[in-house]
Amino acid sequence: MRIPVIAGNWKLFKTIGEAVAMVRELKPLVEKCEDVEIVVAPVFTALSRVSDVIACSNVKLAAQDCYWEEEGAFTGEVAPKLLKDAGCGYVIIGHSERRQYFGETDLTVNRKTKAAIAAGLQAIVCVGESLAERESDQTFSVIETQITGSLAGLSAADFGQVIIAYEPVWAIGTGKTASDDQAQEVHAFIRQLVAKLADQSVADAVRILYGGSVKPDNVKGLMSQPDIDGALVGGASLKAESFAAIAAFNS
Ligand code: 13P
Repeated sequence: MRIPVIAGNWKLFKTIGEAVAMVRELKPLVEKCEDVEIVVAPVFTALSRVSDVIACSNVKLAAQDCYWEEEGAFTGEVAPKLLKDAGCGYVIIGHSERRQYFGETDLTVNRKTKAAIAAGLQAIVCVGESLAERESDQTFSVIETQITGSLAGLSAADFGQVIIAYEPVWAIGTGKTASDDQAQEVHAFIRQLVAKLADQSVADAVRILYGGSVKPDNVKGLMSQPDIDGALVGGASLKAESFAAIAAFNS
């Protein structure tokens, strides 16, 4: 049984005050949501304050990135253990925006993932093809390269701290969601890849989230697919009401 995860990636939005106000509004709206992990990922500067507000609630905290070293002369970076210190249980790694604008590669994603696991965080590892790659029938080869590179060298136990997010780049922020079938096809493929990298029981247990224009009105269809175990939500996670409606997909 895979517990679904509904995670909100707030990207570069919200001041500390706005982030705190959002989770104050969100908490009562989702307090009755059962059998689902609800996660929000504010900017670094808001993590600690948001952590205080969501303590003793069913809303959990993620960061949007981390570095792979624990400490040292690495100006501007944030180590996984500092994210734990700020109250995070999760960290998003390798989001397509980081791959596209900040030079993130499968190798850096792999290092960050291992460091996050070592620090006791759940790593939400993102993969996804661009529009050009989909249109030239490279979706499966791109996903295979990203998954095998990003998750290389993980033990079966490590996979217990990995959540995979499939986010087709062409569906992010565009309003064009992958169809239920398109998403399911890639999720099933990713699960097979995990079975090859680890084993079938690991593959059966790993949560695979879909991301890309998830909204209250399309989440049910996506979540009804056998290999879709949750959503990584951008735009619709910024408002308490729409994010709560997504988190309540099963009610
Ligand atoms: P949107 O939901 O705004 O398309 O963003 C998806 C995303 O990038 C979540 O990480």
